Amino acid sequence: MVSSSSSSSHGKALIDVLTDGSNTRRPLWFMRQAGRYLEEYRKVRKTAGSFLDLCYNPELAAEVTLQPLKRFDLDAAILFSDILVIPQAMGCDLGFVQNEGPKVSTVRSLREVEELRTEGIVEFLSPVMETVKNVKPELDSHVAFIGFCGAPWTVATYMIEGGTSSDRFLAKKAAFDGEPWFDLLIDKLVTSSIDYLVAQVEAGVEVLQIFDSWASDLPDLQREKYCYEPIAKIVEGIRKRGVNVPVIGFAKGLGAGQLDFCDRISFQAIGVESSLPIDWIARELVDKIVVQGNLDPVLLDTGGKGLRESVRHIVSKLPMNRHIFNLGHGVRQTTNIDHIYQMIDAVREFDG
Ligand code: CP3
Repeated sequence: MVSSSSSSSHGKALIDVLTDGSNTRRPLWFMRQAGRYLEEYRKVRKTAGSFLDLCYNPELAAEVTLQPLKRFDLDAAILFSDILVIPQAMGCDLGFVQNEGPKVSTVRSLREVEELRTEGIVEFLSPVMETVKNVKPELDSHVAFIGFCGAPWTVATYMIEGGTSSDRFLAKKAAFDGEPWFDLLIDKLVTSSIDYLVAQVEAGVEVLQIFDSWASDLPDLQREKYCYEPIAKIVEGIRKRGVNVPVIGFAKGLGAGQLDFCDRISFQAIGVESSLPIDWIARELVDKIVVQGNLDPVLLDTGGKGLRESVRHIVSKLPMNRHIFNLGHGVRQTTNIDHIYQMIDAVREFDG
């Protein structure tokens, strides 16, 4: 049986906002908070070797998970790993090439999808669970621990394209043509993701986030089938396995489609992109669901008055018991660390 977050996690602002709105401060963390903008990350990454060596080294991965918490007053740690370890566990070759991003061996036919395994995922990823166990005892009592996986559509785009692609054309084509191998690929990713998330919770994470970074690729009909449906199956799947921790859905770029996203799937919060207007969120979304976001990450490059005004705009319109302060996407490599302190100070100041 999987452990519950409720008793030990009370008093953590992130868990409280996600469960009963009893938080006494606005929870704040940011996507990709452990990463290359931190010099201490770059140092550990060098010691580890490659990015993947770091992901599979439970001591060093725990160290980098904790690095942002040492610098900043944050309400959550996010497990250091990547969404692409799932395709690797399923049998794809994976590498990260400096300045080029991920390279995945391609999957574009029924035979190639059939060859992917869904057994033994958790065993393959056991170093990640060791990382979770190493991090957990090091966290301050007010800090929540977030685990994650990629959503099937986003992960599938990397598997079909062989890495990052500007338009995800081949993946979209497979979805629009209704290729049977594509449906099977999505199903297999659902199965593997359920096992992976359950194992993360068993190891000690207290909140889960599902990243569908390329959700906006999909028009209505395909969005229902390849964004909402597989994510709903993952959430139902982990619930059936006894997982009762809160789940945050992050489908970047859905715009007004965020309403359907939170209607269709039982999340405890959804993350939203920077382009979603705050007034619209305040009017249409926060009464339905807790919202996470959505400061533009470039404001952490620019800082100053623009940053302060944008923080004020978000904080003043979204109530703290319905909002998790975060960015609309991951923090950028070129971020100026001073601006992160400015951002956090501004959130606390405007909340009084
Ligand atoms: O701090 C955290 O948020 C936790 C760790 C984390 C990473 N990737 C570490 C990482 C998380 C949650 C992710 C999610 C992830 N990975 C997503 C979804 C979120 C998003 O950003 O849209 C995606 C699409 C990936 C796939 C991925 N990983 C790409 C496309 C790249 C290359 C681009 C880049 O930023 O270099 C990565 C590499 C990666 N994942 C790095 C980190 C810290 C940089 C690798 C390095 O150290 O060289």
